[in-house]
This record gives sequence, C-alpha cells and structure tokens, in this order.
Amino acid sequence: PIDPNFETNCKPVDEEDGVTVWGPVDPPEKLGIHGTHVAVDFDICIGDGACLEDCPVDVFSWVDTPGHPESEVKVQPAREDQCIDCMLCVDVCPVDAIDVDPG
Ligand code: SF4
Ligand code: F3S
Repeated sequence: PIDPNFETNCKPVDEEDGVTVWGPVDPPEKLGIHGTHVAVDFDICIGDGACLEDCPVDVFSWVDTPGHPESEVKVQPAREDQCIDCMLCVDVCPVDAIDVDPG
C-alpha cells in the first residue's frame, strides 16, 4: 500500500498537471507518488479506474504511463483541491494506491 507518511519519507521532485510528484522517480519504471491531499502511488496503481469512476467531484484524470511494469495508465489527482474527503477512492482501490489526508 501507499506509505501514509510519504510527506516525511519522500521528497518533492517535480510537478505534473499542477500536482506535486514525490520521489525518487526513475521513468518509465519508477514514477513516484502524485498529489499531496489526494496522493496516488503510481508505482502501486494498476490502472483499475474505480477511483476515477466513483469520485463524486471528478478529481482524477487518466494519464498514459507507457513502459510502467504495473500498468500503462494511471490516475492523476489533477483536481485534488476539489476533494470533499468522502474516502470513496481510498475504499474502492483494489491495491491501496491512494492516500487522502482530511484536514
Ligand atoms: Fe474524490 Fe472522495 Fe477520493 Fe476526494 S476522497 S478524491 S472526493 S473519491
Ligand atoms: Fe489506480 Fe487504484 Fe485508481 S489501481 S486507477 S488508484 S482504483
């Protein structure tokens, strides 16, 4: 599962679609954690899509990640500022790739 303490254990190394990327990253195999309030571990995500389908406020966008060993698509939390902390995405992700930090 995603490390709930990634903000302490990882370093911000980049920004994509307005969200912080937490490293280390080494594309295309290692893509890090994307987002802060709504954080998706791209190295755990298998592109299931339940999070994107279920989010009531459309926080996520598909992004292509060709060459990644787990899946060639991921969900960018591009509108994480819209999140209402319902926790649906956290509950439905089959691989626990998402961390939402209320407050
Ligand atoms: Fe969307 Fe709810 Fe997940 Fe926030 S916690 S990103 S509102 S599904
Ligand atoms: Fe990925 Fe989990 Fe969503 S596998 S696409 S973060 S439901």
